[in-house]
Amino acid sequence: MVKKYIVAGNWKLYIERAEEAKKIAAVLKRKVKLFPGVDMVLFPPAPLLPAVAQVLGKTSVALGAQTISVFSGGAHTGDVSGAVVKDLGASWVLVGHSERRAAGETNDMVCAQVRAAKNAGLHVMLCVGEKEKDHGGAHFSDIALQLSSALNGFSNPPAGGRTRIAIAYEPVWAIGKTAAEAMQPGELEEMVIFIRKTLTDILDRTAALRVPILYGGSVDGSNARQLLREGGVSGFLVGRASTDIDAFTEILNVCKK
Ligand code: 13P
Repeated sequence: MVKKYIVAGNWKLYIERAEEAKKIAAVLKRKVKLFPGVDMVLFPPAPLLPAVAQVLGKTSVALGAQTISVFSGGAHTGDVSGAVVKDLGASWVLVGHSERRAAGETNDMVCAQVRAAKNAGLHVMLCVGEKEKDHGGAHFSDIALQLSSALNGFSNPPAGGRTRIAIAYEPVWAIGKTAAEAMQPGELEEMVIFIRKTLTDILDRTAALRVPILYGGSVDGSNARQLLREGGVSGFLVGRASTDIDAFTEILNVCKK
């Protein structure tokens, strides 16, 4: 069903200097051919996009922004729109990351960002995830709500036109921990099936089957293989380990064809 894996690096605010960003990008540019079958996407802090884009040049490594404004143009001091990040070299945007939701982004704002991304011609990596580990299963309804509200009004099928959509399932309790505390592959597989089913309720079935579902939350070289094989995901959204070349390379190696 999924031809290629996506391995995305969310640099968050771990990388704050253009020199450091350029160094990582230069190494990945040299190595990208070693990972056939992998679509690599890097999400640096927005002001570092031009520096990274310049280093990457015409490689297949794609760039994305970590968020965008719900607005497009106008009197919105401090906002950065989809058009701006696109102009700086981004083709993707992360929407609804839990760290943005924790800073006050609501489901409605996430939905507005999805629309703004689409209008700007950016591919959307929609992040969903429950806050607490819930053995009773109540978190499934949180995920369903996050998906349905974010994709409310999204044209059907979503892959139509130029906008692609990928889901990054990132349980908040598993973010920024150790690999041992990440989600177990069996639990992940169950969630991936649930997300797929929910997507088929929201979108055209063919389109829903095409949406890549990634996992994020304490992925590194030690757990990536099992999560990929047994979790049923189409790749990873990697935080901290994506800023460490060796750790990121290990994950890319696991995902190559
Ligand atoms: P970590 O890989 O650092 O746990 O972060 C995951 C994440 O939030 C990626 O968006």
